Amino acid sequence: MITLRPIATTDASAVADAVVQSRDALRRWMVWYRDEYDARDAAAWIEASLATAAAGTGIQFAVLSDVQSLLGVIGFEDVSDQTGRAMIGYWLATPATGHGIGRQAIALALDWARAQPRLHFVWAVVAEANLPSRRVLEANRFHLIGARGTDERGDLALLYELELRSAAA
Ligand SMILES: CC(C)(COP(=O)(O)OP(=O)(O)OC[C@H]1O[C@@H](n2cnc3c(N)ncnc32)[C@H](O)[C@@H]1OP(=O)(O)O)[C@@H](O)C(=O)NCCC(=O)NCCS
Repeated sequence: MITLRPIATTDASAVADAVVQSRDALRRWMVWYRDEYDARDAAAWIEASLATAAAGTGIQFAVLSDVQSLLGVIGFEDVSDQTGRAMIGYWLATPATGHGIGRQAIALALDWARAQPRLHFVWAVVAEANLPSRRVLEANRFHLIGARGTDERGDLALLYELELRSAAA
């Protein structure tokens, strides 16, 4: 059983530890990853995330295990009142992958999104080759709606979208 709670400044060392446990996957798939990533980077990211949350344009959650250890991060960016849209992003520490946690974390994040009256659509950009990430979106009823060219790593970037309150969602 996993839970989400808003990220906090006290999560910095756990985020950095999760990054260290996940170097190969994060290097492959996450544009912000670098080998030198440490607790100061995590603290700066959390600080920026809290500022974004205060401004109402995003929110980041810690994904927690039943014993409250941090398994990964999931959140929304580019939350827009004008468009009613937000972009979802997520990553799990490698030891936590392969157990359906990504699918559950997205479902819980979507529960949060559905409780925001101003949000109507959630979108995601995923590399074509990132099959587990595509699968967890599709399992949560996201639809592939197109491609956005080639990303920083040379992968075809696919665009997925979910209408939060459609009958099918
Ligand atoms: C993407 C991520 C969150 C997925 O979460 P997860 O809990 O590990 O997902 P799982 O490994 O349980 O796999 C999810 C699904 O993909 C499938 N899958 C896994 N590896 C696969 C592969 N190589 N080919 C095809 N399908 C695959 C699984 O069978 C599962 O499908 P199912 O639910 O129908 O059985 C996680 O792998 C991760 O954090 N990866 C690194 C960071 C990242 O890529 N973030 C997303 C950037 S867009």
